[in-house]
Amino acid sequence: MITLEQVWFKYPSGSLALQEVDFSVESGSFIAIMGENGAGKTTLAKHLNGLLKPSSGRVLVDGEDTRKKSVAQLARKVGLVFQNPDHLLFSESVRQEVAFALKNFGYPADVIETQVKRTLESLDLSEYADTSPFLLSGGERKRVALAAVLAWEPDYLILDEPTIGQDYQQKERLRNFILQLYSQGKAVVMITHDVEFVAECNPQVVLMSKGKVVGSGSADRVLSSDQLVEKASLVKPQMAKLFARLKPQGFPGDVVDVHRAKMLLEAKLVEVKGSVPQSP
Ligand SMILES: Nc1ncnc2c1ncn2[C@@H]1O[C@H](COP(=O)(O)OP(=O)(O)OP(=O)(O)O)[C@@H](O)[C@H]1O
Ligand SMILES: [Mg+2]
Repeated sequence: MITLEQVWFKYPSGSLALQEVDFSVESGSFIAIMGENGAGKTTLAKHLNGLLKPSSGRVLVDGEDTRKKSVAQLARKVGLVFQNPDHLLFSESVRQEVAFALKNFGYPADVIETQVKRTLESLDLSEYADTSPFLLSGGERKRVALAAVLAWEPDYLILDEPTIGQDYQQKERLRNFILQLYSQGKAVVMITHDVEFVAECNPQVVLMSKGKVVGSGSADRVLSSDQLVEKASLVKPQMAKLFARLKPQGFPGDVVDVHRAKMLLEAKLVEVKGSVPQSP
């Protein structure tokens, strides 16, 4: 479990980025952190792996204070994929980039080879294994940065804006991949502005504004609430907008994802027509 207790953080420039933040990531949980630009999301993410230490309050990773641990020690447990990873890619090939941390951690060569191959396949990067990361597109580079962290299978995975620059297919792939990690018992924290992606993934949502946590709850509850969505400068997902309008017809007001919408609409069809036409 990672716990932030009454964390305040001020950058040396004087900018107060976190204020009295209490937040925890339990093993095996799936959390989306959402909120406006400058809300403090990335600053919070950097506290989870000890890259930043609180100005006051404390952060515990599996019971250990991050102030007493090096980033290298924490990295094995907590993998952070940066919002803008470009400056962090440095190897000659994608394969080497993804193998880098595994080598540092001292894994044997055969394990490294298997892990790299598996991670590249799952992120649709195999064809670029021998290509320089610098010759790839922005979206592909983002996936290389993700692969470089996923390869060593940290217990906690922190993803800062993972869907930016990803096309629909890659987002679907990413979604399946995240859900798979989650089902394996890994904790996943994703920071995102992408309400549609969150609606379809159905994590717990934590809302931030001006350095504070201002709300939390299930994706259904948070993303269908006018008040909460406004508080964090978000917009409702399309499905939530539609079902808010269908409320007078007796539909629940907290529908945000396509799957639940389909089930409710089919049930309504049965009620009205007696059966649901079979899809081809
Ligand atoms: N390196 C830095 N030095 C000084 N101030 C910073 C630094 N990084 C961020 N800040 C400030 O801290 C606050 C929080 O920034 P942070 O990057 O955590 O926001 P964010 O929620 O991730 O925003 P975005 O959605 O734009 O990524 C902002 O006011 C920002 O200007
Ligand atoms: Mg950010």
